[in-house]
Formats: sequence, structure tokens, C-alpha cells
Amino acid sequence: MTRTILVTGGAGYIGSHTVRAMRAEGRPVVVLDTLELGNADAVIDAPLVVGDIADEALVTSVCREHDVDTIVHFAAYKNVGESMQQPSKYFHNNIDGTVHLLDAAVAAGVQHVVFSSSCSVYGTPERIPVDEDQTIQPESVYADTKAIVERILGWYDQVHGLRSVSLRYFNAAGASFDSRIGEDWDYALNLIPVAIRALLRGDQRLKVFGDDYPTPDGTCVRDYIHVDDLAGAHLAAVDLLRNGGATTAVNVGTGIGSSVKQVLDGIERVAGKPVPHDIVDRRAGDPVSTFAEPTRAREVLGWQARYGLDEILDSAYRWHLSQHVGRPAAG
Ligand SMILES: NC(=O)c1ccc[n+]([C@@H]2O[C@H](COP(=O)([O-])OP(=O)(O)OC[C@H]3O[C@@H](n4cnc5c(N)ncnc54)[C@H](O)[C@@H]3O)[C@@H](O)[C@H]2O)c1
Repeated sequence: MTRTILVTGGAGYIGSHTVRAMRAEGRPVVVLDTLELGNADAVIDAPLVVGDIADEALVTSVCREHDVDTIVHFAAYKNVGESMQQPSKYFHNNIDGTVHLLDAAVAAGVQHVVFSSSCSVYGTPERIPVDEDQTIQPESVYADTKAIVERILGWYDQVHGLRSVSLRYFNAAGASFDSRIGEDWDYALNLIPVAIRALLRGDQRLKVFGDDYPTPDGTCVRDYIHVDDLAGAHLAAVDLLRNGGATTAVNVGTGIGSSVKQVLDGIERVAGKPVPHDIVDRRAGDPVSTFAEPTRAREVLGWQARYGLDEILDSAYRWHLSQHVGRPAAG
């Protein structure tokens, strides 16, 4: 009998796409989410337990009841700016919450964890493309919560034999190709949803932070990875661990950098009209350019990205169009 995967934060953006990919392969799944920032509808037909990762009694009973051997752990707060204003909120949820989750997992006999880490653990990278051996030097509270949890996971392996894969995502983007689920701009602060909001809703112009960086067109460069590609990396990580793979950390990116201007040009191509935007001063703490060296993911997980910026922008635009046109502006 195939054992069950517990997906924390499975009602959120990346979690819901991953749950859907697991269900499409017939894998048994149970979702745990507070729904604070998630959407029950996005879980579609997977069993959903509404609750907190810090509730050890709940996690232990869910793991036992569903015969969970692997936890895919998305649940966390992710707003970098907010983490610099309210650090304790991030320490409590992202770190304390994870420690409670892991203790419950160990008590219930769970053997593996796949963890949502982030390329932000590298801070401003020493060289690009960014490989996994670069120095971990987080530049925000949020990023440090990811680095700390990676280290905690190393200790839980050493002490309890709980093996894990930390997936260091680059910039998750895009929506499901059937427009069923996507990244809600009411919650997201990332470039693509904010740019599409500026275009479709028109209630605020996009701010482009700096166009005088030492990049080909002067704007910052990032590695945008389609959310369904990300979902595939989680399935590969679960299989690696179930096949006895050792604890490790792996970049999940395409290896291709795209500038802010390339993203805006791409949205204009998809939408047939330009994104209303203003160039403003550079924002403190933004790395100029960062994109993944994806070789380890290929070698260790047997995974590589299938989609590029065009598919990301096309799927994101079509999903937003299906969701938001005609809806009144919030607040
Ligand atoms: N979106 C990105 O580009 C990106 C990049 C790197 C890393 N990550 C990480 O990936 C993970 C998922 O990101 P996302 O974009 O899907 O975020 P999201 O906010 O859409 O999803 C997070 C989900 O976790 C839930 N949650 C939060 N705290 C919880 C708790 N204590 N107990 C139970 N549920 C809880 C929320 O309700 C939400 O549904 C996060 O850990 C994030 O830090 C995201």
C-alpha cells in the first residue's frame, strides 16, 4: 500500500499546485492548512484538515490516521518586508511551528520531509549562476528562517533519522494551464501578479525599482520557475527520499535569468497592451541578478524545468483574466 503524503500549506499557491500534481498521479495526500492565507477551493478534492502545524496533537493524530510517511512542508509566512517589521511573527510561525511539526512527525513515525526553502538563503550571491555550495548569507528575517530550518532538519536527521530534501526555490510564477488555480494578487507581492493587476484592474501602477543596474537592459534579473515545474520537483524529492536518498538541499530554478523589462514586454505580448508602470529608485536589499545553477537538481532528483517565461506569463495572464475581470477592487 502506498503511504500518504501530508502537505502543510497545501491550500496556498505552490502547495495547491503540488497537491493537484500528486492527486493526478493517484498518490494518497492529506492537506493541513490554517487557511489564513490559503483557499479551501484550491485543494479541490484532496482531504483538508484545517489546523496549525504547531498543534502537535493534531499533527500526530493526522499522521497516524492517514498512515503518513512523508511531509511536504510549505506552511510558512513569506513576506520579506513584513519579516523585517515583525520578526517574531516569522520566528514563531516559520521556525517554532516547524519544530512542533517535526516533533509530531517523529512521534508519529514519519520518515521524510520535503521543505520549501528559498534562493534567498544565498542573499546577494557571490557568483551567478548560483550553485548550492555558495555561502548561506540570508539578508532578511524571512530568509534566515529558511536557513535555520534547513539546519534544524540536518539535526533531526542526525538525531532522529528523519531524512529531508530542502528545495531552494527561485521565483515561483504562473498558473495551472487549465486556469483552475493560480497566484492570487490579493495576497502576492511578486512582480508578475502585481504587474498583471496593474494592467487588468488599473487601480495602481507597477513600480519598477531601478533601471540603471549593470544588467543588459538596466533592470534586475531573476529566475522565474513555473509552479507546475516546482510541483514536479516535489514529487521527485518524495521519490528520492522513499528510495533511501540522503538529506540534501537542491536549487529549483530554470537556470535562465529574465529581467523585469523582459517580463513586462512578455506580459504586453500576451495581453496586447502595456503594463502601466513607473521607474522609481532602487530598493534596498534587491540583488542585481540571480538565477540558478540547476545541475544538482538534474543529477540528484532527475528533474529539470520544462517551461519558460512565455508559458509562465501566458498561464498567469489567462488565470487572472478568468478570476478578476469585473470583480470590484478590494478595500
Ligand atoms: N512563492 C515563491 O516564490 C516562494 C519562493 C521561495 C520559497 N517559497 C516558500 O514556499 C512555501 C509556499 O509558498 P506559497 O507562495 O505557496 O505561499 P502561500 O502563502 O500561498 O502558502 C502558504 C500556506 O501556508 C498556510 N500556513 C501558513 N502558516 C501556517 C501554519 N502555521 N499552519 C498551517 N498552515 C499555515 C497558509 O494559510 C497558506 O495556505 C512557503 O514556505 C514560502 O516561504 C515561496
